[in-house]
Amino acid sequence: MSNQMVKLKLILLFAVCLLAAALSAQTPADSPAKSSNPQASGTPGASADDIWWKHAVIEEIYPRSYADSNGDGVGDLKGITEHLDYLRDLGIDAIWIAPMYPSPQVDFGYDISDYENIDPQYGTLEDFDRLEAAAHHRGIRIILDMVLNHTSDRHKWFVESASSRDNPKADWYVWNSGIPVDSPGVGDFQKRNEHDGVVPPNNWESFFGGSAWQWVPARRQFYYHKFYKQQPDLNWRNPAVEAAMFDVMKFWLRRGVAGFRLDAIPELYEDAQLRDERDLGGTNDQGDPNLEEVRTANQPEMHDLLRRLRAMVDEFPGNRVLIGETYPPNIAALDAWYGRAAHDELDLPMDMLVGFGSDAKFNATYFRRVIAESETELHGSQPLFVFDNHDNDRSIDRFGDGLHNVQIAKGIATILFTSRATAMTYYGAELGMITQTPKRKEDVKDPIGITGWPREKGRDGERTPMQWTPGPQAGFSSNPNTWLPVAPDYKTVNVETESADPNSLLSWYKKLIAIRRRNPALHDGSMAMIDTNDPDVLSFVRVRQGKNSAVVVAINMSASTKTVTLHLRSSGIDSNTVRTLAASEQGLESIRPTESLTLPPFASWVGAVQ
Ligand code: NOJ
Repeated sequence: MSNQMVKLKLILLFAVCLLAAALSAQTPADSPAKSSNPQASGTPGASADDIWWKHAVIEEIYPRSYADSNGDGVGDLKGITEHLDYLRDLGIDAIWIAPMYPSPQVDFGYDISDYENIDPQYGTLEDFDRLEAAAHHRGIRIILDMVLNHTSDRHKWFVESASSRDNPKADWYVWNSGIPVDSPGVGDFQKRNEHDGVVPPNNWESFFGGSAWQWVPARRQFYYHKFYKQQPDLNWRNPAVEAAMFDVMKFWLRRGVAGFRLDAIPELYEDAQLRDERDLGGTNDQGDPNLEEVRTANQPEMHDLLRRLRAMVDEFPGNRVLIGETYPPNIAALDAWYGRAAHDELDLPMDMLVGFGSDAKFNATYFRRVIAESETELHGSQPLFVFDNHDNDRSIDRFGDGLHNVQIAKGIATILFTSRATAMTYYGAELGMITQTPKRKEDVKDPIGITGWPREKGRDGERTPMQWTPGPQAGFSSNPNTWLPVAPDYKTVNVETESADPNSLLSWYKKLIAIRRRNPALHDGSMAMIDTNDPDVLSFVRVRQGKNSAVVVAINMSASTKTVTLHLRSSGIDSNTVRTLAASEQGLESIRPTESLTLPPFASWVGAVQ
């Protein structure tokens, strides 16, 4: 064979490989192949609207609590694999698995001691590969939690860094020699952390309580930790740290993961001058002074880093997604995480304003405002709505009124699955699992619940075992000593029982997700609010131009029967007849409203325009 023919064959082979990689949404063990930024210009061959994560339903799985396959009382990867059919039937497109890497488990996995392996409690790398292949087979993508801000203090990088001031990793974490205890401006909080006449360089606090600075005698220096002292912050101003963490991410991208949920992303950098935070007066739930959070989060360097990260991830085919754990104070701050008009930073920073806003309540005026903001104030970026996660009381308790909690949870699900946003849910939300806060301090597992008791009872309540059956341990484990107790309502609130009940919350989730998947207007139609002055009923219309498809949604957020006017013509829809697609209350299913629609208390209704 001539040299030229060999070259031609190689070029052809390379082109075929690239095409195959680009077609695969999730290619295990693929090597980086250049593709353009999907937000800015679109992946070759795909319109912007074909990008999978824009339409996805993502479920967060807390691996300790999902399913225990080996009877040790703790969930594991095999347990997830065994329940993939359930996730597929529910309509889940991707699962985000909270950290399952080796970890001393001080913060239940958010203290990682090896980024390229699996904690033996959860299985092995082979179990991960089997989970990924089985998920891929069912059309489910895997998103990993990536903790960039800090490692465990048992990570080999930190062990080396802490050993002396002149080792090769000496500058991989945020170290400081402190200041003399009698320096001007040193307050009592700092003075409590005195070592050999020096105190930390400022008043910064750990988010989890106490000083954010920990003394290490071997270096005679403090290191900074935003979270537990076992979670030292990496020094992101050191390029070697960036390179090492990017390598970690490439390790998983090559293994085929569909992207990352970036933990504590606002906290990556701290003020370079180490200036004090302003004292706001009073104390927080850990009994520490209330401080502003200006010097220890949201530093300007963040945005350049995210652009570099975005570019690195875009070298892998298949529109890998970058989701951010962002708790923005307002919509402008959320927009900044996307890279504003440039769309070159995160794909899906979490819009916590909708589900966790300080004024969040089950109220039409509230939801109309926050949803409208996400439609108009994000430079056309794709919103990501989140109502539940492993750090907050479950939404059924936060939004529920104690009398109509399941109906209210159906209303929340209706917003989540029929609005234009990408939907993120949390295991057990589909069942209406409740927050099971420990009643006694001695039962608490989450360290912040122990140090903060009784003001802060920790996060165990939203992490209880998944409720699969009405049988022992709710079908979560064969072991009666589950790592957290199963919530007492498991006999009725479980997958088996709710699957058999067409009016259950689980059936409502399934119905809505199925409608969202097959209806063009819900897939990528525009979104407009209707009846915008109604204080009790949230209603909106989704319209897919060109496909002759429109869907109307109405949620009665009050305890009284309400009638809404549909205003279809003023929304540009040339029809007055609507067919019910889904209704949360029996009797509503068969109605065909024309001009108006009457909804019982807390009812949710979805209809297709004929
Ligand atoms: C946010 C995570 O969601 C939380 O569970 C964890 O404790 C902190 N980041 C620290 O990693």
